[in-house]
Amino acid sequence: MEQYIIKGGNPLNGRVSIGGAKNAALGILAAAIMTDETVTIENVPNVRDTRVLLQAIEGIGAKVKYVYNNSVQINGGSICDMNVDYEYIKKIRASYYLLGALLGKYKKSEVALPGGCNIGSRPIDQHIKGFKALGVEVDISHGKIFAKADKLVGGHVYFDMVTVGATINLMLAACLAEGDTILENAAKEPHIVDVANFLNAMGANIKGAGTDVIRIRGVNRLHGTTYSIIPDQIEAGTFMFAAACTRGDVVVQDVIPKHLESISAKLIEVGCQVIEGDDWVRVIGCENLKSTNVKTLPYPGFPTDMQPQMAAVLALADGTSMVTESIFENRFKYVDELNRMGCKIKVEGNTAYIEGIEQMSGTQMAAPDLRAGAALVIAALSADGVSEIEDIEYIQRGYEDFDGKLRTLGAVIERVDSERDAQKVKLKIG
Ligand code: UD1
Repeated sequence: MEQYIIKGGNPLNGRVSIGGAKNAALGILAAAIMTDETVTIENVPNVRDTRVLLQAIEGIGAKVKYVYNNSVQINGGSICDMNVDYEYIKKIRASYYLLGALLGKYKKSEVALPGGCNIGSRPIDQHIKGFKALGVEVDISHGKIFAKADKLVGGHVYFDMVTVGATINLMLAACLAEGDTILENAAKEPHIVDVANFLNAMGANIKGAGTDVIRIRGVNRLHGTTYSIIPDQIEAGTFMFAAACTRGDVVVQDVIPKHLESISAKLIEVGCQVIEGDDWVRVIGCENLKSTNVKTLPYPGFPTDMQPQMAAVLALADGTSMVTESIFENRFKYVDELNRMGCKIKVEGNTAYIEGIEQMSGTQMAAPDLRAGAALVIAALSADGVSEIEDIEYIQRGYEDFDGKLRTLGAVIERVDSERDAQKVKLKIG
């Protein structure tokens, strides 16, 4: 089992380049099967989640070719199977985007029902309600969602809550429906806009993505295109918070600073300097971090996917901070691990009360999920002594070459895959 060995205490310094947005890529790769022509997608992050989705896409008969590391060609002309197996869904929930994509293209799909996950129960009632509004018959049995329609017809969907997944799934299905679809209370995240731009580049007619009302006029067919995915807001934010946590000075480049505004605002509140360029953001850490409060909200609010990393920064701030999680029910699993590093964090309901300490001390930890794992890494980078982080496959789901990029900023971090190597690295750096 792979783990990271980290020696903390080095302020991170230098430049780091941010890859394509994982959550945009998952929607876009699924959308790419909706034409029989070849689609080339660039800036695809080479992370576990995108690799699993590409396997699922190959699993239904589409052709997938890696042109080079971050560029993929997909041809959905040879799809022969409408059935997406549980094997993929259990590894990555977003394979359920194939439900919307297959429904749009073939008016039929079967996808294993996603279960809960480490951050809480994650129902898909809004996806199903939306499909039904387009005239789809949905039947759930034997752990599967069976969806089919004689024809898809445009419909009016009002989402009961802001949901990224259902907004994307409905955009996929509706762009090949007959007539107009209106999605109200739609999610506005940058990756929603990116998926809509990609579908439009394939010939779809989607307007209003990025606002809470999306209008989709169905078209008869989609065609091939070449498209480059936007930069990853969460990967960028993670490096920005790593700079703050280690009191470093980091330029995060190849980003869209507008997408990082809620993250930059919190860094300024805690006392860091944030300087923005056209496609870069520089974060200069400060010795005395200040406490603040934060509540996760749908975009443009503070992202839930940055909540654990924010807590790692606040754990080192003067005074008491409050972090309130309003999107997922179980996103504080990392708190016990941070407390083992000496932090003073108490969770009551959906709020973590964080009393700042001067310095954390390195220890053994296990990553509970993707973003919590990233938070433990940046905490360990700031800590006194050596930390060992297990279960890093969670982190690899969403960060390409995380340890390599951190090393270029001066971090002492090694990835090892045996106890023997772990001992060797600890002797070398300890
Ligand atoms: C996506 C992101 C994830 C991010 C989350 C919120 C991807 C692949 N994942 O997840 O990284 O943390 O958005 O920004 O893009 N809900 C329902 N019923 C539904 C759908 C959602 O009750 O049918 C609830 C969820 O349980 C959650 C909230 O709505 O409480 C938001 O979920 P949603 O935005 O759909 O998250 P995901 O798309 O799963």
